[in-house]
Formats: sequence, C-alpha cells, structure tokens
Amino acid sequence: MKSASFFLRLFIAIWLASLTAGLFAADTNSPRERLLLDSGWKFHLGNEWGAAISWSKAGTGSGPASKTYSDASWRSVNLPHDWAVELPFDSSADGSHGFHPIGPGFASNNVAWYRRTFEVPPGDAGKRLWLEFDGVFRDAQVFVNGWFVGHHEGGYNGFRYDITDLVRPGEKNVVAVKVDASQFEGWFYEGAGIYRHVWLVKTAPVAIAPEGIFVYSHFKDNVPGDKVEIDLQTRLHNSQTRAAEATIASEIFNPAGKAVASQKQKSTVPALSKDENTTSLTFSHPELWSPESPKLYKLITTVEVDGKMVDRQETSFGIRTVAFDKDKGLLLNGKPYVLKGTCNHQDHAGVGAALPDALQDFRIARLKEMGANAYRTAHNPPTPELLDACDRLGMMVMDENRLLGSDQENLRRWEGQVRRDRNHPSVAIWSIGNEEFGTQGTPTGGRVAQTMQALVKHLDPTRPVTINSDLGNQFPGVNEVIEVRGWSYHIGTNNMDAYHAAHPAQPNIGSEQGSTVSTRGIYTNDAARGYVTAYDVGATKWSNTAEDWWRFFAARPWLSGGFVWTGFDYRGEPTPYGWPCVNSHFGILDTCGFPKDNFWYYQACWTDKPVLHLLPHWNWPGREGQDIDVWCYANCQEVELFLNGQSLGRKKLEPNSHLAWTVKYVPGILSAKGYADGKVVSETKVETTGAAAALRLTPDRATVNANGEDVSVITVAVTDAQGRVVPLASNPVHFELSGPGKILGVGNGDPSCHEPDQFLPKVSGRSVPVNDGWRWKKFADVSDPKRAEFKADFDDSAWEPANPKSDSGPLAEQEKAIFRAKTTVTEADLASAAVELRCGMIDEEGWVYVNGKPAGETHDWQTPGVFDLKPLLHPGENTLAIAVANWNGSGGLNKGVTLEFQDQPVAPAWQRSVFNGLAQILVQSAKEPGEIKLTATAAGLSPATVSVPSQPCPPRPAAPQTTAD
Ligand code: GAL
Repeated sequence: MKSASFFLRLFIAIWLASLTAGLFAADTNSPRERLLLDSGWKFHLGNEWGAAISWSKAGTGSGPASKTYSDASWRSVNLPHDWAVELPFDSSADGSHGFHPIGPGFASNNVAWYRRTFEVPPGDAGKRLWLEFDGVFRDAQVFVNGWFVGHHEGGYNGFRYDITDLVRPGEKNVVAVKVDASQFEGWFYEGAGIYRHVWLVKTAPVAIAPEGIFVYSHFKDNVPGDKVEIDLQTRLHNSQTRAAEATIASEIFNPAGKAVASQKQKSTVPALSKDENTTSLTFSHPELWSPESPKLYKLITTVEVDGKMVDRQETSFGIRTVAFDKDKGLLLNGKPYVLKGTCNHQDHAGVGAALPDALQDFRIARLKEMGANAYRTAHNPPTPELLDACDRLGMMVMDENRLLGSDQENLRRWEGQVRRDRNHPSVAIWSIGNEEFGTQGTPTGGRVAQTMQALVKHLDPTRPVTINSDLGNQFPGVNEVIEVRGWSYHIGTNNMDAYHAAHPAQPNIGSEQGSTVSTRGIYTNDAARGYVTAYDVGATKWSNTAEDWWRFFAARPWLSGGFVWTGFDYRGEPTPYGWPCVNSHFGILDTCGFPKDNFWYYQACWTDKPVLHLLPHWNWPGREGQDIDVWCYANCQEVELFLNGQSLGRKKLEPNSHLAWTVKYVPGILSAKGYADGKVVSETKVETTGAAAALRLTPDRATVNANGEDVSVITVAVTDAQGRVVPLASNPVHFELSGPGKILGVGNGDPSCHEPDQFLPKVSGRSVPVNDGWRWKKFADVSDPKRAEFKADFDDSAWEPANPKSDSGPLAEQEKAIFRAKTTVTEADLASAAVELRCGMIDEEGWVYVNGKPAGETHDWQTPGVFDLKPLLHPGENTLAIAVANWNGSGGLNKGVTLEFQDQPVAPAWQRSVFNGLAQILVQSAKEPGEIKLTATAAGLSPATVSVPSQPCPPRPAAPQTTAD
C-alpha cells in the first residue's frame, strides 16, 4: 500500500508539472471577451438632423442617434472605413489634405453617421461592457440606445466608454456614432470616419482595468546579462459596492511557449475603485528582442475572486534595453545600434487612412526589405495593430504624440497613449511632439515639454524621450529640457556639430531627415504634370538628398542614425508642386509601396545583401544618340557598366555613395557587374522592352486567410511579349473578381492621378407619397402596443379624416391620438433593397405600427421620423397606425408621409490605369474559404487571371448583430 506522503509528493509533482507546462494558463474559462465590432455598420454621409444630443432629457438622442431610427437605406460598410478617400478630387479643395473635397468649404462632406446593431446574450447581465474605439477621424459623438455616452475630439487617440448600464442583454442594441471631420489636425491627408477597429469588451465586475498591465524587463546597469528581472504592474478594477479579495497569478512563457516564471499575489480591491499591484520575477537566459531577432514572450495574468477565475489576459512583450549614449548614440541591448528609420503617415493607396491589419504587415515588410529597422509614427499615436506588426516583424518605433500640451486634456491623451503602447517591445522611444514652430524655442515650450517628459518617465521608466525639433543650434526651449535632442533637418557643421560641441552631455537623434522628392519611373522634372525626377537630386529648400543626409549621419555615430521623411508617399503635401499633384513625393516607396530608385540607395547602405541597381529604365524612343545619365547604387567596391555587351568603364564606389556615367542612348541592354576584391559579386541589367502586349497579376502571398480581414496585395503589371514590365505603359485596366472576396481599393503610385481609388455601388430609388385616406381619433392613452386600433382589421371608418400634409395640428396641448391609413405594395416593391416610411413631422412623440406590429418610435418633432418597414409589409394592402402624443402647442402627424423604395445597389466596375507599368489592387478575403479569382483586362493586351486560395481560418471573435427587437 502506498503511503499518504507518496500521494502528497505525487500531487505536488503534478501541480509543479502543470505550472511548467502552462496548464493553468491554458484555461480560457474567463468572463473577459474582446469582440471585434468591425463588420455590419451602416453609413450615411451628411447630417440632416442638426444636433443629435439632447441636453434636456437623458436617453433621447434624436435622428440617427435614437435607437429606432431606420438606417435600412444607408450604405453597408465594414471598418476600418475612410470616407475621404471615396470622394473625388477637386482642385478647389485643400491640397495639403490631398485635394479631396472635405474640410472648410465642403460642409456637406464633413459630417457622417455610422450605426451598428449588436446583441449581448441574457447571460451577460451583470458583466461590465465597454465600447472601445482605436481611432476615429475626428470629433466623434457616441450614442448607445439613444443615450449619449461620450464625445472624443482628437483623430488619433483610442478611447473607450463603459456602456454597462445602457445595454439591454437579450435585445437589440444600437451604437450610433456621429463623426465630424470638418476640422483638420495635420497638414497631410488624415482621412475621415471610423478608420480603425472598434471593440466590444466584456469583463466581470472585478477585472483587470483597461490598460491595467505593464510588463517590462530590467537588467543590472541596463545591459542585458544572464539573469533578467521582469517588473509587473497589475491594476484591478472593482465596480462592485463591496471590496474584493483577489488573487493575481502571473505566468511568463518564453518564445517557444514554455513557462519560465510564475507568481501569485493577493490584493484587496476596495469597493468602486482601482488598485495597483507591483511585483517582479526573475529568470535566466532571456532571449532578447531586436529588429534582427524579434523574440516575443507572453505574460498570462489570471485573477481569481472567491476561488473563481474572474479575468485572464495575455500580454505579449519583449526583453530588451534601450539607452542613449552621448558619444555612441543609441544603444540597443547595451550595444551601439544605428537607426535606419523612416517617418510615415497612416495612408496607403486604395484605402486611405483605413488600413486593414494585413496592410500594416505588408508595409513593414517592404521597409524591412529595404533595410529599415525603425519607424516613426508621424505625427500621431499609431493604431495598435501597427505596433503588433512591428513587434512581430522586428521594427523599432518612435511613438509620437499629436500635439504638444500640458493642459489636462493633452496630458490625459498622452497618458492614455503611453499606457496603451508601453508593453510593445518595438516602441523604443517616445516623441512628445513635432516641430512646434511657435513654442519650441520659448520658455513656455520648455516647461510644457518638461511636464510631458516627466509624465512619461513616471509611467515608463524604460524608454528615452525626444521631440522632433526643427531648431538648429539653439538650446533654449524644448532642447534644454529634452532627454534626447531630436534633429529635424539642419544638417551641417554649424548646426549639428556646433550644438554637439556646446552640449556634449546630451544624446542626439536624427528624428526627421531627408525630404528628398522623387517620382517612381520619372527622370525629368515636369511641373505641368507634377512629376519630379527619380535621380537623387530633388530636395526642397529645407531638405537634403538621400545621399547628403545619410553620409553626414553615417559619419557621426553620436547622431544615432535617423528617420527619413518618408518611407512611403502619402496623400497631401504635394511638394514641390501643387495641383495636379495630389500626393507627396517624399516617399522612398510610392503610395502602393512600389520602390522608387532611392530604395536601392538605402538598401545598399542599410543591408549586407549584395545590391546592384541601375537607373533609369532603357526605353528612350526618339533619344537615340543623345546623352543619358546612368546612375548605379551598389554596396560592392567597384562597378563596371556595359551597353549591349560593350564596357563603358569600371569605377570605384565610395561607401554610401553612387556611381554615374553619361551614356549615348542605343536601345538594347544596359548591364552592370559589381566587384569585391576583384571578383564579380553581383550583376544586373535594364533592357529596352517591346511594346505593351500583356497583363500580369502577382499577389504578394500565395494564399490568404478566410477570416474576412486578410488582404492580398496584387501587383498589376503591363509587360511586353517577353514578360518585361513596360516602363512607360499607362494602360487603363479593368478588374473582375469572383469567389469569396472583394476589392477594397486600387492605386498606381502616380502622384497626379485623379482616377478613383474606390468604386462604390450605384444606388437609386423612388419616393411614393402616402398622404391619402388617413383617419384619426383622440385617446386618453395610446401607450399599450396591443391596442386593437393598431391592428389591420380594425374598422376606423367612423374616425375623422386627417391631412398629414398640413404644417401643424390637429392635436392641442397634452392630447394624444392614433392616425391610421392603408397602403398597397407589390411583390416587386418588396424586392427593393430597403422600404422605409418617412414621416415629415411627428409632433411630438410617435409610435409606428404596421399591420399591428411595432415599426419604431420617435421622440423628436424637429426631424423627420424614418422607419424600416420592409420586414413588416406584405404584398397587397397593409395598415399603418401611428400613435402620437403632443405636449406643447399644436401637434400631430404633419409635413407629409412617404414610402421610400431603394433599388438593389448595382455593383461597381473597378478599373485603374497603370503608372509607369504598374498598379496595385487590394483584395480582401471573406469569411468563407475558397478560391478568389481576379481577372484583369485592357484594350489590346492579353488578359491575366490570378487565383488566390483563401484558406480556412477562424475569424476573430466578433460582436453579433441583431435585427429583431
Ligand atoms: C517637416 C514636417 C513634416 C513634413 C515635412 C516635409 O517639417 O515635420 O510633417 O511636412 O516637413 O518636408
């Protein structure tokens, strides 16, 4: 017989094994849910309803803010969504925002509404419910079931509302968001709408607080060693009216998924409050995070109250140190590390500011291919999914605030940004602002910067702080208080070297450099068409060529490397020309992510892979015998150039530089060989192509995930008969898609192209008056929905005739009545996409019934009531009954009644011209797996078809929609 101690030992062994195997961490039986609220929104551009907030009575948001307003005829959209990119180009619109008619002077395009129904199961009663927005541009008013829940102004910070009390479990719930983009924040394209994700978060009443976890690593002297200390802060939120005794368990898993450390803590959280718990854990042999090796650990936090799990959250994090040295510049994991960074706005061809997560990965991967290891989120907080991509793919981030300010609101936003982003290992440095011309050199600017910096240091002891300052050799103001001096331009010994000599103890960083301008595939400036040569010669008066800035920085380790303005072109700031240009020329890649020639300059300087690149293309009909400048980017020692096999000479290459030849044009093959230590290490060629003959479609990946979110980025190329991209081609291309997917947008990188990036379904409809045959009768009370007078078979022939077209009446103060009429619809009418009843004015409150069933209610006499009748009507005769309560003055059913029929939308035909041979089409998967087939056709060219298999993949948990009341 085995002894009791044997069983005890066995139990302890199993318990320990379960800890190391992470068994308790695998328990997902937690009340917390984070549901995506991206699909199934209704969208309406315009605001015909005036102010939707009622400041007199709670829960009475009017027009679309009310729960029962019909949005049946509104367009269906999924988030992320940007309505600015849907608008045509207009030369009278603001150029810095990309000439889309939005902002000052375009009132009818500035305000829009979004609505979405959602259901919360009855079993969720008692949970806390949060609505989280990752970002809305801009000025959002949010309503839930007619209640105003919050107003958020800024276009870039995330925000959340506790909507627990307003949600009706087991019923239809409606979130309505009014977005007002009339005021710009930046001087670049900013988009408009709910352009980032929205989430419905559910937690137990005692739970981890929003952004309640902070995990960071700690090494002796801030230099990684064999033992790491992990500091944890866990903030709990108790929304109960009694204190809670909680147990917090924290378990850390290494990149291979093995548990490496765990700990439990007890915490008493007082009633209706938050508490903060700090602790630390240590373990050996940490695997460090870096752009070259982005190793991710996972922290699993579970919370128990009364022996029951009340919360569980996973936090991905990395172990690494960042510091700045006055002489060596940035130190990553204790070693000097050169930042090869790009600044970027959140904007891509086809979709504007509404980037699906897959595009974040696509863009970061393009930058990494160039050798970039750092990304500045100019000039605003990024979306969290960008940081996720940087964590996973290995890209350091300068995480930038939008507006310098130490007032309460700015500090609240800044704190929110730091709390939200501080677990991301990619975030390496905070930037409190950008080029604050008016204040950066003043004592006030200095004080504000100091307060903001102190707040970051309090919230995050691990990261340095900078500001992108375009002051030259100037100390007073922000520069005298900031930890790391940020340099926006001002290259030169008088500026940077002199400043460094005068302030030797302050570390420096090239926070914004370059601003080189170029157009992909263009080799002469052309002001009329708005193109700039792609040779590295184009700079504005404040900026530098790629080669100038990088050589200066590469020679000065104390500058820490820097961030080029910009990685990708973006809409707006069409420097150096205005219209017809609609986007910037600063990118090393164009708006689609197609590389311009400078890409290979940076790749040669920033990577170890052999790079040999020739420019320009070799199609110069009509220029036979004329001189053409040929440039070469490479990272070998010598390069020899050949034209049609004949050597044009071998030249020595200075590091971080380029080579140039002048070549008399003869069609054929321009080729080069790169040499290191006398041996050929690389070869390249540029060929004169034949005429455009065919189309080619190339997806960026072999398959996509059938989760309704993934995106295939497909390159459209016009080639000659031998499959070579024709560098001057500009053919219009038509696209057709079949299978489980849809086209999100198209682009071609042409900074002056005015073709649409998006094609919307065509909508038409008709309005039919329903003003005849109305009768009405007064009643003392009309509140019972089961009244016989609402039913179809009720005989109202003895009632008074009513005229719903009159401006006012017939009810006097405090009177109530029911109005009835019949309307006949056909089967064809009911095949419409939407059938709505529009009541010009129901004064003051109204309850609408169709064939005895409730269709909705209105409590707003100032805006027309619109009700969704399609689910309630049948072919033939139908009965409308409207109960009206009038409180002040005269009231009733007035200003005309109509039935609005909307035809089924007609799917658009997508097209886009290629620009210098290339275009891009973004295709999004549906939730059903299958084969997505895209066909491209163009007059005179052989068509192309590509199949993108969409593989089964569980979609992310999403908040279900409801239609039923
Ligand atoms: C900088 C500014 C950027 C962009 C850039 C263009 O001064 O920070 O937002 O405008 O100039 O060169």
